[in-house]
Amino acid sequence: MEGVTARFGRAPRTVTALDDVSLTVASDQIHAIIGRSGAGKSTLVRTINGLAPVSSGRVLVDGEDITAASAAQLRATRRRIGMVFQHFNLYDRRTVAANVAFPLELQGLSRAQARSRTDRVLELVGLSDRAGHSPAQLSGGQKQRVGIARALVSEPNILLCDEATSALDSETTEQILALLEDVRRELGLTIVLITHELDVVKRIADDATLLESGRVVESGEVRSLVRDADSRLGAALFPHRVDAEPHNGPGSLTATFEGNLSARPYVSALTRDFDVDVTVASVSSERIAGVWFSRFHLIIARPDGSPAPLQPISAWLTERNVHVDRY
Ligand SMILES: Nc1ncnc2c1ncn2[C@@H]1O[C@H](COP(=O)(O)OP(=O)(O)OP(=O)(O)O)[C@@H](O)[C@H]1O
Ligand SMILES: [Mg+2]
Repeated sequence: MEGVTARFGRAPRTVTALDDVSLTVASDQIHAIIGRSGAGKSTLVRTINGLAPVSSGRVLVDGEDITAASAAQLRATRRRIGMVFQHFNLYDRRTVAANVAFPLELQGLSRAQARSRTDRVLELVGLSDRAGHSPAQLSGGQKQRVGIARALVSEPNILLCDEATSALDSETTEQILALLEDVRRELGLTIVLITHELDVVKRIADDATLLESGRVVESGEVRSLVRDADSRLGAALFPHRVDAEPHNGPGSLTATFEGNLSARPYVSALTRDFDVDVTVASVSSERIAGVWFSRFHLIIARPDGSPAPLQPISAWLTERNVHVDRY
């Protein structure tokens, strides 16, 4: 997206839902869009399949500017983009199979072709045995599997998910996220996923964009954002708890690194190499974007109890790829 602005309504009562948004969604990645209610998340995602009004800027899908596309081109592009919704949007009066086959009916595929594709995606989402049921007979998680099957039946290379797990409990959310990861890998999909849940971002996103009042605040690789001490998203994903600590004075240091604490005997090494006493005031580890991140808050004193000079200790840690947030 290049400088995309999207407005609704007529002057003087226009609402600017997107304000000069530029961002890149890398292919084969899972890209999360995060922001408060009204931030413009749904509008952003709907510009990708041409469903939201773009008043200026360009939206390039696989290099093709869809804001300048003809109606026929737009139809063809939309076929490569599947969409999954929070409230599933299924027809209870049609069977599960008929719901999934619906987009193919609109495309005019033969019954035999539609049948074989429908069978295949229902198997992919693990619902072959429910093909003849009504969606009304399914659980929320199963309904969302039908929603995903319907989105995949047109064989898209892009999947847009607007709060696809927000109506589900945490266990079902986990199952749906695992399914999205599976289909991403098996079908080589690019997934844009709107969510307001940081846990969803931690669990599944490669990249993330934070949206606020229609503007991009931050966008990038989740791992880089977590490593970046100035990143708001990074801080939200792996919060600093230092401010809550009573030991925030001289001789105190916080540091973050990629990896698990157990494999890194820093405390004993510091004690030995610098002849200091080290108190571990807090430690946290969290798995984010498939890797472990750890952070510790140390209080480091000379044997006489006075605060230790932290500059050389900080340099020592930095040499070992430990990012010293502050001291
Ligand atoms: N069809 C529309 N007509 C008028 N205003 C709209 C329309 N769609 C969205 N808006 C406005 O654009 C802004 C962004 O809305 P959008 O639905 O993109 O937010 P969102 O981040 O998806 O919010 P939520 O988390 O509540 O779904 C809001 O102020 C909203 O009222
Ligand atoms: Mg929305």
